Amino acid sequence: MSLSELQSKIEQRTAIVGVIGLGYVGLPVACALASAGFQVIGVDVKAERVALINQGCNPIDGAEPGLTELLAKSVDARRLCATVNYNDLAQADVILIDVETPVDETHSPQYIALAHACQKLAQVIRKGTLVIVESTIAPGTMQDVVRPLLEGLGKKVNIDFFLGACPERVMPGKLLANLHSMSRVCGAYSSETSAAMIALYRHIVAADLDAADCITAELVKTAENAYRDVNIAFANELALICEVTGGDFLRVRELVNKSPGRNVLFAGAGVGGHCIPKDPWLLAAGARDKIAMRLIPAARAVNDSMPLHIATLTRHALESAGVDITTARIVVMGYAYLENSDDTRNSPSAALVTQLQAWGATVIIHDPWVPEYKTDLMQCLNDGDAIVVMVAHRDYKTIDLAVLREHLRTPILIDGRRVFDAQLARSAGFSYFGVGQGKVAEG
Ligand SMILES: NC(=O)c1ccc[n+]([C@@H]2O[C@H](COP(=O)([O-])OP(=O)(O)OC[C@H]3O[C@@H](n4cnc5c(N)ncnc54)[C@H](O)[C@@H]3O)[C@@H](O)[C@H]2O)c1
Repeated sequence: MSLSELQSKIEQRTAIVGVIGLGYVGLPVACALASAGFQVIGVDVKAERVALINQGCNPIDGAEPGLTELLAKSVDARRLCATVNYNDLAQADVILIDVETPVDETHSPQYIALAHACQKLAQVIRKGTLVIVESTIAPGTMQDVVRPLLEGLGKKVNIDFFLGACPERVMPGKLLANLHSMSRVCGAYSSETSAAMIALYRHIVAADLDAADCITAELVKTAENAYRDVNIAFANELALICEVTGGDFLRVRELVNKSPGRNVLFAGAGVGGHCIPKDPWLLAAGARDKIAMRLIPAARAVNDSMPLHIATLTRHALESAGVDITTARIVVMGYAYLENSDDTRNSPSAALVTQLQAWGATVIIHDPWVPEYKTDLMQCLNDGDAIVVMVAHRDYKTIDLAVLREHLRTPILIDGRRVFDAQLARSAGFSYFGVGQGKVAEG
């Protein structure tokens, strides 16, 4: 099939679409394309996930408006089916790759899933198939990793198949809404391939679709997340400065942001998730042997230090209350990396818990969205010596502070996300410590 034939199949929605990796990114895109009228085949290595999806059940536990319904509808209408078998992709005209792309301990890309997907795919792609990598990858990965693996069995890009990169921009909690409303970069090995990609995404994206080459698509995606990480690091460092100088970060932020062109982000107990903690390293990976990286690693270090800072605040608060940390019972509220999500990847709470336990504390974890920690909060609090709020889940925002206080043995509240009002917490009898709130601001 020629590219123009493929493009017209895409425009008429008669193209069959494959999606490899049915996680936070792949599942919503598979559902969106199915609901736009395409026949979609989803492939995942996790058999239980595949079985759940085929029953029309959403495997994502976090609040994802519309996804559960869209998935059930797509499966019911037989527009979406999932499989563990790559051979089923032999009938696909377009194949999206949405597998995880973490970094290892040395901050180098770890492409085990990506390489496996490409190797399996190389065995089944037909002449004229369009392959699009949606996973976030380091600049140069399309050329150095994806293309050689897909060409490994002799088929050539732009002759036997077509290849592009269109990194996803979604965020848990708004997966479908982001997918629909955020612009995308359609990077490819030819402008005709970019045009076919734009034709595909036009069915599900109501925003700009910009044609580019692969390296630009890779750079843009990793740069946008590195940009966010650096900006969060600035906010976190400013919060630390406020703590020791006696200001209140929230008030300082509000007033700084009145200055034109300033937009200081919120400070907090750390940065987690699958993307922001690793995408800056992916951006740096392509160039770190050639130029000295200073800002990106420094920002990562600031953000990674925040859980330890919260642990230190907790330890000092316990000491001030005369509680030895080795006898303390500390309740951590929130284990997901993001509010109202079940995603615990690179959770700042994990780093906090490890530190508190290393100091000898007993730690009880509660999270209303993470199945493992979805227990009764009030029971968790009984005989507690400190609460540490790590996630601004909506379930926490409406809690009555007086009820929280009643259950505790020692009324210490460390607020890593500034969920609670300091005055109200103190009126309820708490020793309250909010991130970014200095001694003078405490009053
Ligand atoms: N999570 C986000 O908010 C987000 C946002 C934008 C971009 N991204 C990027 O999208 C990509 C996917 O992230 P995610 O959060 O969806 O990850 P995920 O872990 O939720 O999903 C990946 C899925 O791929 C499956 N998988 C792994 N290897 C496979 C293989 N060889 N064949 C078939 N399936 C395989 C896994 O079982 C899993 O279900 C990453 O590159 C990530 O950086 C993620």
